[in-house]
Amino acid sequence: MRTPPIPIRPRRNGGQGGGDLLEQLQSRVIGQPQAMTEIVPYVRMHRAGLAPEGRPVGVFLLLGPTGTGKTRTVEALADVLHGSERNLLKIDCGEFQMEHEVAKLIGAPPGYLGHRETQPLITQQKLNAVTSESSNLSLLLFDEIEKAAPSMNRLLLSVLDKATLRLGDNTSVNFERTLIFLTSNLGADAMRKQLLPDFGFEAMSPMAGERAGLAKLQSIGWGAVKRKFSPEFVNRIDAVITYQPLDDAAMEIILDQQIAALQKHIDDRLDENAFDVELTSDARALLLARGTSLE
Ligand SMILES: Nc1ncnc2c1ncn2[C@@H]1O[C@H](COP(=O)(O)OP(=O)(O)OP(=O)(O)O)[C@@H](O)[C@H]1O
Ligand SMILES: [Mg+2]
Repeated sequence: MRTPPIPIRPRRNGGQGGGDLLEQLQSRVIGQPQAMTEIVPYVRMHRAGLAPEGRPVGVFLLLGPTGTGKTRTVEALADVLHGSERNLLKIDCGEFQMEHEVAKLIGAPPGYLGHRETQPLITQQKLNAVTSESSNLSLLLFDEIEKAAPSMNRLLLSVLDKATLRLGDNTSVNFERTLIFLTSNLGADAMRKQLLPDFGFEAMSPMAGERAGLAKLQSIGWGAVKRKFSPEFVNRIDAVITYQPLDDAAMEIILDQQIAALQKHIDDRLDENAFDVELTSDARALLLARGTSLE
């Protein structure tokens, strides 16, 4: 892996507008401090105009149990940078399980059958369209990369290495102003077994010993990554980040966030008919008990 950039301490009071990036992210993605502290320096390098040329601003592989905030991280970053969680380009790798489907990403060359039907999924316009007035940094998410056909890896390798992708029509896309996130369930089964050694019979409280367990999860994740991807692929990733299971305290905060989001939805939609959502502590306990599961 590459060495992470040294975090920038701005000479004059931030210059970032809207408060500290790390704090803003941590208030949106609960209980994953390691992920945020790995990612934020790359955004700061870009903001400072010091991101290296000829490569993407940052490349992150996000691993870990389902529902722990991997996708949420990219959405939160989109929200903080661009004011909307939707300002990101997401490629669902499950849609590229066959070799010929990978061609859809770059579009067929002119003259080939299907040229008109296959608009490339990644184009410079699409990358530019997910930036905003406040930031020119594009966020590109390849969700569940392990599902894609092997040719996707070759395509990604060139993107990660040279920050360019040549499309079927011979134009190319530049990724020097792009943060790339790869998410994967690699190692997730082994991680679940680690967390639930008796398949749930005598399960650890979801989170018992979880801090100590994080190192174990990380090594499971790393092992799976090294088995699946070539060393040259792994070398082009800036950080492999393993998300940890959420503990009870994190779940409480996430419940509060979701209730607040529900309240906002009600207020926005119902106007003068809006009402306040209040939860008894029994109701909270019920939601936390029934609404969460380690799996
Ligand atoms: N750490 C977190 N902080 C805040 N909300 C979270 C967190 N983790 C999960 N959530 C909530 O759960 C939902 C699902 O999480 P998310 O989509 O990020 O899971 P994931 O890690 O990407 O899982 P998968 O591996 O299944 O894709 C989020 O939209 C969010 O509402
Ligand atoms: Mg996800």
